[in-house]
Amino acid sequence: MKILYAASEAQPFAKSGGLADVAGSLPKALVNEGVECTVIMPYYKNSIPQELQDDIKFVTQFYVPVGWRCQYCGMFKTEIAGVTYYLLDNEYYFKRDYGLYGYFDDAERFAFFSRAVLEAIKQTGDIPDIINANDWQCALIPVYFNIYYRYQHDMRNIRNVFTIHNIQYQGKYGYDILEDIISIPRHLASLVEYDGSVNFMKGAFEVADKITTVSPSYADEIGEAWCAHGLDRALANKKYKTCGFLNGIDVDEYNPATDRDIAETFSIKKKTGKKTCKAELFEKAGLPIDDANTADTGDEPVIGIVSRLVQHKGLDLIKGVFDEIMGLGFKMIILGTGENEYETFFHDMQNRFPGRVSFTCGYVPDLSKMIYAGADMFLMPSWSEPCGLAQMISLRYGTIPVVRATGGLKDSIIDCGEDQGTGFTFHDYNAHHMLDALKRARECYDDKKAWNALMNRAMKADFSWGKSAKLYIGLYEELCSWGRDS
Ligand code: GLC
Repeated sequence: MKILYAASEAQPFAKSGGLADVAGSLPKALVNEGVECTVIMPYYKNSIPQELQDDIKFVTQFYVPVGWRCQYCGMFKTEIAGVTYYLLDNEYYFKRDYGLYGYFDDAERFAFFSRAVLEAIKQTGDIPDIINANDWQCALIPVYFNIYYRYQHDMRNIRNVFTIHNIQYQGKYGYDILEDIISIPRHLASLVEYDGSVNFMKGAFEVADKITTVSPSYADEIGEAWCAHGLDRALANKKYKTCGFLNGIDVDEYNPATDRDIAETFSIKKKTGKKTCKAELFEKAGLPIDDANTADTGDEPVIGIVSRLVQHKGLDLIKGVFDEIMGLGFKMIILGTGENEYETFFHDMQNRFPGRVSFTCGYVPDLSKMIYAGADMFLMPSWSEPCGLAQMISLRYGTIPVVRATGGLKDSIIDCGEDQGTGFTFHDYNAHHMLDALKRARECYDDKKAWNALMNRAMKADFSWGKSAKLYIGLYEELCSWGRDS
């Protein structure tokens, strides 16, 4: 069985969010299970580290229809850990200076990419059984397949899976792009038409053979208006082909016993290294180290937050009861960028609580790792969360998640009872319910025996890809077993 996994970002080549982690680790897990899986993504010449570029080899070139034009596409190839990566090159579209997305012509850039993926299959004759396209940037792949490729003899048996990593980002544009930019004939406009705009994701919902998302709870929630950002109606009659598989994480990369990026390694049996990690975190975050871990300051646990600072991550809850959180005797280390309102708020809090609150505005991978490894608790009060990877990474490092039970957070964190559970959860989107969960966490932290047992359970929780990779394989196999045209 041959899978072509199409994504607009994948580790270690380019990353702006969790999609890159999944596109970097699921294909590896599939290959480990004996499935042939190739990743295909844009060749972002300015984002890919030079040492990786040295191993990237030219394969072929072809032209891709984009509206009334034809655009060059170079196809490059490299291999890491048994996974083949195809990188599709067009410098006009993908050699950009400021990040992967957010340009005036994103619709055209990813329409080009989506069409180029199908052209690459046609040109090389390397025909997959399944194309698994991810998120809005690749949502036109199943649409173009249906319009232009499914009647081509060699490609007729390809099946399409579309995976939603976040339903908020849909690829919504005006009608004017329909023919000249995204090459969809007017008589087929209804495929991508939704609520008065062109909507890439809705197009994928219409034509994909299966729709998957990144946790079972999120698969249910996207059918409801509070979560779906308008697309619940488009999914209403698609339940028969929609399901959710919880993401895994790369457990070799995030392993406190072997991780070279943390100050001192540690394990369930020997946790002293975590104290060193905490001290390093405090130093980096600019909090006084003496306060880090000593009983004489009341041993205040530190809450870590690594998040995009946007409303749906639940930051208004934190803002609403910040003083009360501090009143419970916590320290807080926050890393992230986003909406001005929250950046300003956390700057203010850093000034109001010197030595107890630290805010770093930006995306600093080193510091995020230090937070996962060195904090005591990790707070994610999200309004909605498709899967969330940070809570799973935190668990690996014995950093206890405090989360709202939604989407993947609900599916991955079991609320702490006496001898069970891996974190603290709350259900309603309510600041005082969050505060209650934090209170319970604080009380547990003070009972050293209970806390140690909780850390052990957290560190033992298994979020490796094995289980979910098998679920994907089951789904792919089901599709392959559908009748084939000879
Ligand atoms: C998106 C989601 C996040 C998920 C990730 C990987 O970034 O917001 O919850 O973990 O994709 O699927």
